[in-house]
Amino acid sequence: AMAKPFTMVLFGATGDLAKRKLFPALFSLYKNKFLPEHFRLIGVGRSTRDHEAFRQSVRESIDSFGRLKVADENEWQQFIQHFYYAVADVTNPEGYKGIKDLVEEYENKYQVPPNRLFYLSLAPDLFATVSTNLRLSGLTETGGWKRLIIEKPIGHDYDSAKKLNEQIKQTFTEQEIYRIDHYLGKEMVQNIEVMRFANSLFEPIWNNHYIESVQITASETVGVEDRASYYDHAGALRDMVQNHMLQMLMMVCMEPPSRLKTEAIHDEKIKVLRSLRRYTEEEAGKYMIRGQYVDGEINGKPVPAYRNEKNVDPGSMTETFVAGKLFVDNLRWAGVPFYIRTGKRMPEKMTQIIIEFKEMPKNLYFNKDNNLGPNLLVISIQPQEGVNLILNAKKPGSDNQVMPISMEFCNNCEQGSPEAYESLIYDAIVGDQTFFTHWEEVSLAWKFIDPIRRAWDENRHPLTFYRSGSWGPQEAHDLLAANGHVWRPAI
Ligand code: BG6
Repeated sequence: AMAKPFTMVLFGATGDLAKRKLFPALFSLYKNKFLPEHFRLIGVGRSTRDHEAFRQSVRESIDSFGRLKVADENEWQQFIQHFYYAVADVTNPEGYKGIKDLVEEYENKYQVPPNRLFYLSLAPDLFATVSTNLRLSGLTETGGWKRLIIEKPIGHDYDSAKKLNEQIKQTFTEQEIYRIDHYLGKEMVQNIEVMRFANSLFEPIWNNHYIESVQITASETVGVEDRASYYDHAGALRDMVQNHMLQMLMMVCMEPPSRLKTEAIHDEKIKVLRSLRRYTEEEAGKYMIRGQYVDGEINGKPVPAYRNEKNVDPGSMTETFVAGKLFVDNLRWAGVPFYIRTGKRMPEKMTQIIIEFKEMPKNLYFNKDNNLGPNLLVISIQPQEGVNLILNAKKPGSDNQVMPISMEFCNNCEQGSPEAYESLIYDAIVGDQTFFTHWEEVSLAWKFIDPIRRAWDENRHPLTFYRSGSWGPQEAHDLLAANGHVWRPAI
């Protein structure tokens, strides 16, 4: 699709996300000619600054964090002339006048259709207020299209998410709300569907007849950093599982959509969450493990325990690690365990999905010399992007000895992949909601999370501890051992 002229009103333009991700993504899109000739970005912030100072901050962001850098002054001028700044108190409807003037000035000057994209890169407790004020200010009364982009978290449980959604829906319809889960913008997450549905090799065996188990790992080496005020209330279950982990699960499990259309794809993803077995507070103790890091070492450097991190409650019971054994109770997946784990302060930064196939009947090549491993399909999401198929083959020159071999495809070795935010911002500009989260996904995800969260909040199941720089608590290993499985090392 070709992008049409638009105005993007970016709330939180002086914030961290804008600096690290959004400005660099916009510049890369511009450089790759994905932006239309006419567009305007209006950065909105609380502090007073002029357009020039704002433009300078955009430059610094791209110089520090840009995937693509500025080649010369001419290119820079062409790009940055689209950027404007407005100071606003977003809690006051009167405060939107400056924004509106800049939007209308641009639309009149170029006689472009009033297409307006509102990006709320703000604390989530402002989402409802800002969308209401956008309506009251008249900014959402437009003859063109209007769209809203919001970041997670959408609420902190089902009830709060529902309430927020109802407030936002007074201004924007579901088709106008773009809920970002940035994992859906990652190249290899998008590639899961292509791999599955464009290869006749996988579809016949993509089910419980041939698949033994699935593992999804998203590990990080960082700790809580300076986000304790958010994270110590959220925890890994809300921060990573409710959104990113379940999104990857949906991509692995969904049935082929009837067509490659947003609605058809969302329908199939939603059905996965409908089939996802919900645990009671009691069952959460058996299927879900929560852990918190104690001190240890990352890359040879000592790091403190979570409870000693800045702004963390020294008695905090917040989990920084979650492992779970999930089941999707439908015909395709009944009986297949889906193991998920995610945590901070683990040995490496890695997101990976491993499909483990069932073993061959133990007759021909199993003997004392051959300890055959299962076939694995490894989908590497990051930092390495690629697909790796592990097979068994004859050891060259041997007498029927078998060894594992690996067939590898690397997706980002020859040239770097676009950043998630590049493809997501572009999709929002051209109106493609496919890789955004539908309200039904948010709501069903919370319904799965809520009882587990309650059980943990009431301390009905123990909080475990793991050393920084380890692959999580022993209990996460025991969870798989109960089914005769092991977490596979990173490949
Ligand atoms: C965010 C979480 O959604 O995802 C962070 O809030 C986490 O806690 C981050 O660090 C991980 O994203 P990525 O793209 O670095 O894997």
